[in-house]
Amino acid sequence: MPPGLKIRDGGPADAGSLTAIFLGARAGMPYLPCLHTDAETRWWMANVVLAGHAVRVAEAAGRVVGFSARSGELLAHLYVDPAAQGAGIGSALLADAQMAAPALRLFVFAANAGAVSLYRRHGFAVIGRSDGSRNEEGLPDVEMEWAASGHEP
Ligand SMILES: CC(C)(COP(=O)(O)OP(=O)(O)OC[C@H]1O[C@@H](n2cnc3c(N)ncnc32)[C@H](O)[C@@H]1OP(=O)(O)O)[C@@H](O)C(=O)NCCC(=O)NCCS
Repeated sequence: MPPGLKIRDGGPADAGSLTAIFLGARAGMPYLPCLHTDAETRWWMANVVLAGHAVRVAEAAGRVVGFSARSGELLAHLYVDPAAQGAGIGSALLADAQMAAPALRLFVFAANAGAVSLYRRHGFAVIGRSDGSRNEEGLPDVEMEWAASGHEP
């Protein structure tokens, strides 16, 4: 874990900072269509992500720099502030999720080669691919899965 990084449970008060990180990170993913207003995204973060997932928040020097959102074995979201990427925070959030669940699966856009290779380095394997008909962005995606050793997913 990067020095000074703290990972804690997320709560309703985090909706604003998590929305800013989500929007900032997705602005760096030019292949994504813009489907929702920022206000809709803020509502979704508070009422869907924070209300319905186990959310973990990474903080450095008292500032929120990333988060993960998990629903059972589905790792639904992993985002790091673009200004803080490449410093091990995404890896720390992923390791934190792997400590909390015996197995995980996730969907990642096929165009997101950096994230696919990050997940591979953390033991995830590709178990499926789609042409985009199963996500609202309509983009080809990859399904990946990881299990702690000795655990059958
Ligand atoms: C994918 C994402 C979560 C990764 O977070 P991150 O904090 O940048 O991840 P890490 O720093 O742990 O690893 C990224 C790279 O930094 C390197 N790195 C890890 N620790 C490092 C450290 N202490 N110092 C410098 N570099 C480091 C890793 O080797 C990795 O290298 P790579 O370029 O070969 O992949 C982040 O890039 C992001 O939010 N992207 C946009 C949203 C997204 O794609 N989410 C996933 C959707 S499924």
